[in-house]
Amino acid sequence: MDSSIEEIDDTESSFCSLWSTAHTKIDCVELFSNPNLGDDYFFNRLNIQANCSNISDTLNFIKNNHPYGLNNYYIHLIHNNKNSITKLNISKFGTMKILTLDINKYTTHGSKHIEIKVVDKVLLNDWIDIFCRSFDSLETKNEVTTIISQHYDKFTLLIAYYYIDEIKFPAGCCLLFEKNGKIGLYCLGTTYQFRRKGVARELISNAVKIAKNKGYDSIILQTLTKERFEEFYKRLGFKTLYKKILYTFYLN
Ligand SMILES: CC(C)(COP(=O)(O)OP(=O)(O)OC[C@H]1O[C@@H](n2cnc3c(N)ncnc32)[C@H](O)[C@@H]1OP(=O)(O)O)[C@@H](O)C(=O)NCCC(=O)NCCS
Repeated sequence: MDSSIEEIDDTESSFCSLWSTAHTKIDCVELFSNPNLGDDYFFNRLNIQANCSNISDTLNFIKNNHPYGLNNYYIHLIHNNKNSITKLNISKFGTMKILTLDINKYTTHGSKHIEIKVVDKVLLNDWIDIFCRSFDSLETKNEVTTIISQHYDKFTLLIAYYYIDEIKFPAGCCLLFEKNGKIGLYCLGTTYQFRRKGVARELISNAVKIAKNKGYDSIILQTLTKERFEEFYKRLGFKTLYKKILYTFYLN
């Protein structure tokens, strides 16, 4: 595998591990699990390495020994892996694209209705609330609070406020995570009532500024193609770096 892809993938894995209550390696499968986050394709996952043999045996072992209160895991497989997953009759969940933006070619812009702030500890609860509401996952709030509070120092959290008649409303969030000389943008969300008003675009614009100030040339993000945001990212200048095929692996 291309060493840059390997580093980017490791950055994604490191990010996911911070959200896991169980993170372990079984043969060529890296397992991430946190039942408190619900049925989440990004966090409850099995990363299968390239050139993995005996996947069937390893998956059966996981099924019998590592259910961790989940009904299913999502297998993440980098496209082009020459392994035998397709022969296992596991249903495809979707395609996740890993996109990159050349920061030096990006033109930042601003909106007079939107203010972006880097989150300090005082704003932490606002960020958590917006994240859970944007992703329609208020039931995970306690767990998200634990994770974000515990790893606060490893993230740069951004919050967006939307102004209506000089009153400001919390509207959106995202975070930046750095590893291996790479910087990834995660948890991009806008609450329902403020969608399609440019909040996400503004968050990305500010994330780009921060990444540039930190000396990065590019920024990475992941998007599930069926959520249909790829076109939006492409319009901002993001390009596909590689893709992953996701499969649902049922445990029962
Ligand atoms: C994705 C999300 C963050 C977009 O937030 P937003 O603040 O509405 O985005 P913006 O207003 O900045 O939208 C900018 C562009 O995104 C695209 N877009 C936003 N929502 C869209 C949708 N539901 N379908 C298609 N395109 C959409 C549009 O191209 C829009 O451009 P336009 O203004 O010219 O129409 C928001 O829908 C969300 O929170 N979704 C749930 C969380 C999620 O899935 N996040 C992961 C994204 S990878």
